[in-house]
Amino acid sequence: MRLKAIAAVVLVVGMGVTSVYAAGEGTHDGRVAMMKKIGGATGALAGIAKGEKPYDAEAIKAALMTISETAKAFPDQFKPGTENASADSEASPKIWENMDDFKARSAKLGTDADTLLAQLPADAAGVGAGLKVLGANCGGCHQIYRVKKE
Ligand code: HEC
Repeated sequence: MRLKAIAAVVLVVGMGVTSVYAAGEGTHDGRVAMMKKIGGATGALAGIAKGEKPYDAEAIKAALMTISETAKAFPDQFKPGTENASADSEASPKIWENMDDFKARSAKLGTDADTLLAQLPADAAGVGAGLKVLGANCGGCHQIYRVKKE
């Protein structure tokens, strides 16, 4: 009962916040869209690493650039006061409590992608090794800052 009431309040507050950030910054949609972009780029790299797709230097470069740019811009979606941007949000309140760490983790994913761009993996095995480095960032951040909704 109590939880339901809280959820309703969060929903109403969330709707207000969404209209203020109608431009897409700091909204649940904005965050999810960015993470989907990163997820898509990571999936493209995984396809090459697993040999499902042929090695393609241009595709690898494009994926790494997407990850780099998106990861660096991602924390802009977590402005103060957007904690309850959506009832569907999987963004943990811990993000706002540890914003410096959250930003550092996102930046690290960006710079790891930059490092791979500077020394582009030369074959599928290299892409796989690079993915391990990138992937550690995903899991590390999600474990602390992403709450899985049922
Ligand atoms: C700095 C922290 C951070 C890093 C690094 C990070 N994520 Fe996320 N990710 C999040 C948060 C927070 C959410 C939940 C967003 C929400 O629901 O508002 C999320 C959600 C997602 C989602 C779900 C989007 C949806 O449809 O709801 C996918 C997919 C995803 N991340 C993929 C990745 C991949 C792949 C990587 C690594 C290449 C990665 N993430 C790295 C913080 C991070």
